[in-house]
Amino acid sequence: MKRKAIISGFSKLSREEKMEKMGELTGSAEQIKTQLDSFRLQNKEQQDLLDDISENTLSNFYLPFGVAPNFLINNHLYHIPMVIEESSVIAAASRSAKFWASHGGFTARVVSVVKSGQVHFIWKGDSEKLNDLLPELKFDLYQATKEITRNMRQRGGGIQGIQLVNRTDEMESYYQLHVTFDTADSMGANFINSCLEKMAQQMKRFFKQYEGLSDLERECEVIMSILSNYTPDCLVECSVECSLDELDEIHPGLSGKEFAAKFQKASKIAELDVYRAATHNKGIFNGIDAVALATGNDFRAIEANGHVYASQSGKYKSLTHASISHNRFRYQLTMPLSLGTVGGLTSLHPLAKFGLELLGKPSAKELMMITAAAGLANNFGALRSLVTTGIQQGHMKMHLSNLLNSLKADYEEKKQALEYFAHKTVSYSEVEAFIKSLRTKLQ
Ligand code: MEV
Repeated sequence: MKRKAIISGFSKLSREEKMEKMGELTGSAEQIKTQLDSFRLQNKEQQDLLDDISENTLSNFYLPFGVAPNFLINNHLYHIPMVIEESSVIAAASRSAKFWASHGGFTARVVSVVKSGQVHFIWKGDSEKLNDLLPELKFDLYQATKEITRNMRQRGGGIQGIQLVNRTDEMESYYQLHVTFDTADSMGANFINSCLEKMAQQMKRFFKQYEGLSDLERECEVIMSILSNYTPDCLVECSVECSLDELDEIHPGLSGKEFAAKFQKASKIAELDVYRAATHNKGIFNGIDAVALATGNDFRAIEANGHVYASQSGKYKSLTHASISHNRFRYQLTMPLSLGTVGGLTSLHPLAKFGLELLGKPSAKELMMITAAAGLANNFGALRSLVTTGIQQGHMKMHLSNLLNSLKADYEEKKQALEYFAHKTVSYSEVEAFIKSLRTKLQ
């Protein structure tokens, strides 16, 4: 590999030229081109579409698109699309979904759908005066954003409120306009940011032109205008519940009562211990992110949101809670989820579009409930394994095909390995030894 040097004007080069540049660095332009080209779509229209989604696109990076079937949510059956690289996630979601489908299913409810954004600004006048100016300022801000909000208002959304937040105690002359939104079925990031930027411009103009203000009061320094990915008021709850007897079938040698008690302790540990809480919540996001990707939603925003919510008490905790009462086991997930089913990638990306079709073209609220159920299912599956067999048994079984592929096993070798490891513990060294033994037999 050659020494790396700054590349100027990379985005202006054609795709061929970009690949040549990459080739100059590795000394194998032809190889790079062949490899990157092999992952491009035959369908030119669809490939052009993917190329335009991001900057400097050279090829496509494939991830498995699968389905976790049989999610009974509020008495409605869904087969949930998931995009994920971790081999055991869809298997775990499907296993939990199947179990709960015959034990009452998932019950889900959208608690609220409010999103927000902020204009952060510096104003050096007297805060009392700012409060006095607020009603007029707000009126101006609503007027200024009328055009941008028209379509959204027709779809039942729009700006819900504008609040002035005084943070001058924490930073000199620092205020926020905290604006709340209903973005209907869209995630709404572009809509919110457009509104906020328009408000920021209008606010500067308002102070500049307001009669009777001093020179100091006419100056408003806008620091930034941006949506918040923390949406504690865009909240969904999802739970499963059954009698302790119904859990008898979960694991041989463990009664339903014993299983529930152990499960509850494991869940409590994730409320008490931050190291465990991170892993526990990661297991929830295994399901959530996979649905987010399969439906064209922004999984980074979803994660940031969930993690802040998990820390809202001042300590990072699990997003779930288990309880046992009157011989019944109940497990609940409560978390904010800001999702969209229109706009953005949801209709642009052919597979995201298909994912949403598979779910029956849900509203954003419905998708919140479906996604939460996937998160709860994955987390239930993880805890179920952790408190019974341990996680590695299932994980390594699912990982077996990855190991076989990394050892370049052919069809016959894979077949024999699957049979051999059906009831054995899988590890890299064991699989490697097995494949070696098959190959030496053949020599
Ligand atoms: C692995 O991707 C997720 C788990 O670690 C989650 C958990 O520990 O709860 C199995």
